[in-house]
Amino acid sequence: MTVITCRWLTRRYAQRGIDPVVAVDSVDLEVEAGSFVAIEGPSGSGKTTLLGLLAGLEAPDEGSITLLGHDLSRLSGAERARLRQRRVGIVFQSFGLIASLRVGENVGLPLALAGLPEAARQARSRAVLEEVGLGSAFGARIDELSGGERQRVGIARALVIEPAVILADEPTGSLDEDNAAGVLQLLTDAVRRRGASLVLVTHDPASASRADHRYRMRDGRLTAGVPA
Ligand SMILES: Nc1ncnc2c1ncn2[C@@H]1O[C@H](COP(=O)(O)OP(=O)(O)OP(=O)(O)O)[C@@H](O)[C@H]1O
Ligand SMILES: [Mg+2]
Repeated sequence: MTVITCRWLTRRYAQRGIDPVVAVDSVDLEVEAGSFVAIEGPSGSGKTTLLGLLAGLEAPDEGSITLLGHDLSRLSGAERARLRQRRVGIVFQSFGLIASLRVGENVGLPLALAGLPEAARQARSRAVLEEVGLGSAFGARIDELSGGERQRVGIARALVIEPAVILADEPTGSLDEDNAAGVLQLLTDAVRRRGASLVLVTHDPASASRADHRYRMRDGRLTAGVPA
């Protein structure tokens, strides 16, 4: 089964006085259920733009995206948001946590948006925090955590909805080498346990080397294979 299919995906950004930047250029991609896809490419090659398109956060200028059986161009903004909230987990380089909320509340936020009652939210948030090794941090403040711990909270928040697809944009890019390896292991283990799919964008060949399929991105173009 295919969870993501992109055909001829193109996204341009207008620039004043000069030709537009083609951030994503004619990209074809298929992601199978349960597979781990890594996309490597230099800064500015279009990786974040591509993930934003896959998540339905922005619309392509050309081409189509089918996400979990839905043609995104046929969904309204609200329908795309609902699909994301229920089925897609997103992990960011800068964690994307809310400093004014406690750890457990951050993790439970997607469940709150989905309308789950407090008791159920707490139980599921606790279980997933246990899974990432932060069971005792439920009531902690975000600023009490290290970078590696913060990203584990970010991963817990992505996992709490039991997503079919996880999109991760340089999830270890803000961490030192040791922490990066641990966090990546945790993410890939959690994804495999669930039989979910992972699309990981990274500068780091070590992270990408564990993927089932590797692609490289350059000037908006996606090609199969390992960067030279
Ligand atoms: N909102 C925007 N408006 C205008 N140009 C943009 C916008 N977002 C991205 N771009 C341009 O599109 C191109 C691709 O950017 P993108 O952020 O997708 O690259 P990236 O591969 O994620 O880079 P990095 O590794 O630095 O995160 C760049 O030339 C960038 O300047
Ligand atoms: Mg980026």
